[in-house]
Amino acid sequence: MSKRDYLTLDDFDYQGKTVLLRVDINSPIDPKTKKITNENRIVQSLPTIRELVNKGAKLAMIAHQGDTLDYQNLISLREHAEKLSQKLGQEVQFIDDIAGPTAREKIKNLKEGEILLLENLRFLTEEVSTFEDAVKLAPEEMIHTYLVRNLAPLVDYYVNDAFAAAHRNSPSMVAFQELLPSAAGILYDREVTALTKVLENPKRPCVFLLGGAKISDAFGMMEKVLAEGSADYILTVGITGQIMHIALGKKLGSPSEKFITDRGLEKFVELARGYLKDYPDKLLLPSDFGIDDGGKRYEVTADDLPIEKPIIDIGSKTIGEYGKILREAGTIFVNGPAGIYEQEIGAYGTKELWEIIGEAEGYSVIGGGDTVASAARLGDLSKIDHVCTGGGALIRFLSGKKLPLVEAMKKARKRWHN
Ligand code: 3PG
Repeated sequence: MSKRDYLTLDDFDYQGKTVLLRVDINSPIDPKTKKITNENRIVQSLPTIRELVNKGAKLAMIAHQGDTLDYQNLISLREHAEKLSQKLGQEVQFIDDIAGPTAREKIKNLKEGEILLLENLRFLTEEVSTFEDAVKLAPEEMIHTYLVRNLAPLVDYYVNDAFAAAHRNSPSMVAFQELLPSAAGILYDREVTALTKVLENPKRPCVFLLGGAKISDAFGMMEKVLAEGSADYILTVGITGQIMHIALGKKLGSPSEKFITDRGLEKFVELARGYLKDYPDKLLLPSDFGIDDGGKRYEVTADDLPIEKPIIDIGSKTIGEYGKILREAGTIFVNGPAGIYEQEIGAYGTKELWEIIGEAEGYSVIGGGDTVASAARLGDLSKIDHVCTGGGALIRFLSGKKLPLVEAMKKARKRWHN
C-alpha cells in the first residue's frame, strides 16, 4: 500500500472489474464555434486512462464541462470523447446520458479494456447546487443523489483523477468514496506530490513569484507560506506589487489607482501593510515599472511615482533583481503574470521572467489559468517541472484550505485499505 494519505492505482486489481473514473477535462471553449480551444486537461488525463485499460478494467468515465455561471461553456462532452479517442488510438464511446437507463445499460455491457464517457455531470442540478452551497450536503448524505444511487451499484472501484476540481464538494467528487474502494489517479498523485513538496519540504531557498490580476489568490497564499515558513522570498509583481507600494505610503498616480479602486482591491492594502511589517526581509517589491504612454512603453523607477499614465508591467531593473533570486532558488512557485501580458507593450517583464525560470536550476511549479497561458505564449512549458492543471483548487491547496476531494480521499484510505 502507498505511504501517501490516499490510495493509488497500485492498491487494487482491476482485471475484469468495472471502474468509475472521475476526470477533470473541463476545457476552454471558443464562444462562437463551441469547439475546445485547449486540450491540456484532456492530455493530462491520458496516463490514468491508459493504465486502467492496460490493467483490464471496464472503464466508465464521468466529467464536467462549464458551469451555470459560465453558461456559454456548459456543453456536451461529445467532442471530449472524440479527442480522447484520437489521442488514445482507441474508441472512447460516448453516450448522451449520465445515470439514466441508457447509461446504466451501457455500463453493464462494457467489456474488458472498453472505455465509455458519460454526458456532462453539470447537466445534473445536484452536482452544481451542492458545491454552490445552495444545498448543503455532506458526502455521506450525497450517496442518495441520483448520480450515486444509480451508478455505484454497477461498479467495483472508483478512481478520482480530477485534482483541478478538488475544491468542489459535489456527489461525483466526494460521495462514491463512501460506498466503493477508491483510489487516486496518476495526475492527482502528481499534483498533490508537487504541491506538497512546495509547501512542506521545498528545496531552499524557496521563492514564490506572485502577481496577476486576481490578487485575492496571491494574498490568500502569502499568509500561509509566510506564516509557515515555506517561502524564503516572495517576489511581488502585477497589481500585487503595486498594492505593496501603496501599503508603504506611495502614490501610484490616478490611472493605476483608479484601476485598483474600480475593482475594490484597496481592501488588500491593510493586509499588505501587515505582511510588510511582519516579514520585511521576505517580501520584495518591484523597484521599477513599465508605463503605457499612448501605446509606447517607457520605464520609471518606484521613486518617480506617482505617474499619470497607466502602469502596465514591471521594469528592467526589477527583472534583474528578481532574476538573480530566481536563478539561485532551490524551488520556484509562480502564480500570476508580471504585467498585461496579452498586449505586447505589457508583456516584456512576463516574457523575461519565463525565460529566466525556464533556465533556472530550481524545481519549478506553476499553476492558474493566466499563468499557464502566459507561459505557453511567452515561455516554454516543457522547461517547467510541474504545470498544475488546477486554478481554484491549486490556490486553495496552497492557501492551506481543506479541499473536499483531498479530505474524501483521506477518508477513503482509512475505510478501504486492507
Ligand atoms: C476548473 O476549471 O477550475 C475546474 O474544472 C473546476 O471548475 P469550476 O471552477 O467551474 O468548478
